[in-house]
Amino acid sequence: MARIALIPGDGIGPEVLAEAEKVLGRISEIEDLPLEFDRWPHGADRYLETGSGMEEEEIRRLGAEYDGILLGALGDPRVPGNEHARQILLGLRFQLDLYINLRPVRLLDRRLTPLRDIREEDLDLVIFRENTEGVYVGMGGVFRKGTPQEMAIQEDVNTRFGIERIVRAAFEHARDHDVDRVTLSDKANAMEHAGGLWRRVFQEVGEEFPDIEREALYVDMLAMDLVRRPSRYRVIVTGNLFGDILSDLAAQLAGGLGLAASANLHPGKAALFEPVHGSAPDIAGSGNANPLAAILTSALLLRHLGRRAAADRVEAAVRGAIGANETTADLGGALTTAETGDAVVRRLDSAA
Ligand code: NAD
Ligand code: IPM
Ligand code: MN
Repeated sequence: MARIALIPGDGIGPEVLAEAEKVLGRISEIEDLPLEFDRWPHGADRYLETGSGMEEEEIRRLGAEYDGILLGALGDPRVPGNEHARQILLGLRFQLDLYINLRPVRLLDRRLTPLRDIREEDLDLVIFRENTEGVYVGMGGVFRKGTPQEMAIQEDVNTRFGIERIVRAAFEHARDHDVDRVTLSDKANAMEHAGGLWRRVFQEVGEEFPDIEREALYVDMLAMDLVRRPSRYRVIVTGNLFGDILSDLAAQLAGGLGLAASANLHPGKAALFEPVHGSAPDIAGSGNANPLAAILTSALLLRHLGRRAAADRVEAAVRGAIGANETTADLGGALTTAETGDAVVRRLDSAA
């Protein structure tokens, strides 16, 4: 029995997570995989009622008591600054030390890319985003607030320990998937202290993998080149902020945020799965949210549980639904969120 915590969250989060839950429910029958779900009602509503996003003790329990956590999205215009989202999302990532933010991008159907003349196999990469450091740590502050001399400092924290473990995760992934090159992305020309450390550690760790080529690219150049010739890239490792930005860009090359899945991992410890997209307040409640990112995210969860066949089956069903145009409007289809989830569920039996 695998225990899964569900945190639907805000906006389209509950809408897309309901579809992921449908898919997991059906796959657990087909693949004889008993799953038990607990729902955690944390999000903006609860924050506005109680003043609490998520307590440290709750985060500890989420990490200790579940085989996986599946989150919809967090963010609500009623909470200025989205304090609750930081508490919950960054709280989970930091407190559970989920140092790998794994963001795969794959072109599932040629028709979905805005790029000309590329084949499906030309866009198949994984971003290893460092998930516990960088500018996200919240170090810094404001001074002379509200005056014309106001200043703000947002520190960028990079430790050898933190860099080493994400770089090693990227090389191990490359080795295990027969990828012959790992690309580091940084801004070492302008940010020489952080960039220098990343490059030294990248080289040191990379030497343990002599069959894998190392390449270090400035992030601006990489953003450009991902659009120009995406097939060069298979494994990209980068810091927290650059990973955030590159993953939205890469997602759009493969059809958009409606398809982008992610996992936050600390091997042997806890794991949190979430679509890359946010709460999309502009379409919340309209029935237009694409649930496929959440569904593909649940496939990552199945893979994490060691259920490869189940994960493959979900991915094949998603591909089938896209191929038949049974999608929401962002992918050119005419279905609602729930109808798209149903289309995937219907295909699960035949997909393998
Ligand atoms: P967003 O990802 O919510 O939306 C960006 C654009 O993509 C919008 O036009 C939206 O309609 C569209 N979009 C996103 N997901 C979609 C889907 N599944 N189907 C169809 N269209 C989709 O990003 P944003 O607007 O910058 O942020 C909104 C809120 O979400 C903010 O509060 C932000 O902080 C938060 N956020 C949360 C997470 C998370 O919980 N993991 C991630 C990103 C942003
Ligand atoms: C993401 C989101 C978050 C991030 C925000 C909501 C803090 O954009 O998961 O990509 O920047 O990590
Ligand atoms: Mn993001």
